[in-house]
Amino acid sequence: MEATDKKLLKVLRGETVTPPPIWLMRQAGRYLPEYKETRAHAGGFLDLCYRQDLAEEVTLQPIRRFGFDAAILFADILLLPQALGQKLWFETGEGPRLEPVTDTNTLKGADEVHEVLNPIYETVKRLSGSLPSETTLIGFAGAPWTVATYMIAGRGTPDQKPAHDLLASNPAAFHRIIDRIVEGTVEYLSKQIVAGAEVVKLFDSWAGSLKGADFDKVCIEPNQRIVEALRSRHPDTPIIGFPRGAGDRSVDFAKATGINCIAIDQSMNAEWARDNLQSICAVQGNLDPTLMVGTGDALEKHVEKLINTLGDGPYIFNLGHGITPDADPNNVSKLIELVRK
Ligand code: CP3
Repeated sequence: MEATDKKLLKVLRGETVTPPPIWLMRQAGRYLPEYKETRAHAGGFLDLCYRQDLAEEVTLQPIRRFGFDAAILFADILLLPQALGQKLWFETGEGPRLEPVTDTNTLKGADEVHEVLNPIYETVKRLSGSLPSETTLIGFAGAPWTVATYMIAGRGTPDQKPAHDLLASNPAAFHRIIDRIVEGTVEYLSKQIVAGAEVVKLFDSWAGSLKGADFDKVCIEPNQRIVEALRSRHPDTPIIGFPRGAGDRSVDFAKATGINCIAIDQSMNAEWARDNLQSICAVQGNLDPTLMVGTGDALEKHVEKLINTLGDGPYIFNLGHGITPDADPNNVSKLIELVRK
């Protein structure tokens, strides 16, 4: 299939595609027995990310099983801090740990990240050869604020307090960290695009904890700088933004960044998104991930409502956040059937 005919790329150019293309955040993951098997074989989570053959395999697993319209590169947003020289490890059952930073003096330059990240570009290259011709390949990175919250706290935090504290106590140092992430992310995503990523997505998972002027300066501006730099190098590559929890500030986010598509979380009202966002860019989302757990009886009603609300404009079907390890793969099959019906 010609790249221009791929459903996801059509939507990202502003076309309405019926039925809408579908993929799921975290579609490669622990709810799939085949993922758990490959993960066990790899050893650690980071080994899985850096082993090109295994990262390729887990990216392809959900495509083989379900036939999604897009594949998302298997990697993690915390590989960039690691490439910038920060120590990173994953505690089993607890999530990521990093040696916290309070400034950039211990970090490498943005042009030095490729040494660590080269295997990721290799995985992208392999995938662009092995994916079915109708499947779109999505590359990604974390947005600067979200990445900074982990770099500064050294772990995931419910309220991102350590990062907020540094922003308040030493804004210059805080912004040096943000700037380094912006520069590193441009390098990282640019290489993913050269290797074959057809779309890139910026995950700002903790955007919701930034209010007022902080949202403008720490969420919108850094995302906007990345979009601008990528556009100048790769004008044809569409970009998806995901300011999770941003609520009505999503309008300013979409307008200022100039992204091609905004991913919305499950807390957002779909009618509101249709009326306020879909005229600015395409919309992706926002089925509640908890519907994928259990019997799946409520799926039909919710899928119908989302498609009736957002399906008359540029729309990509997805969840409002990642699918969880306790989800039932049978519900994913059922979901795809309902969306494509
Ligand atoms: O399928 C995909 O979506 C592609 C791969 C992907 C992963 N992480 C794999 C992963 C993507 C796009 C991410 C993004 C990511 N990573 C985000 C932003 C999106 C979001 O969910 O808000 C964040 C905040 C991270 C950081 C991260 N990675 C955390 C906090 C954790 C631990 C929590 C958890 O879910 O276990 C991870 C680990 C991780 N990243 C796993 C996967 C499949 C699970 C690790 C395992 O297999 O043990």
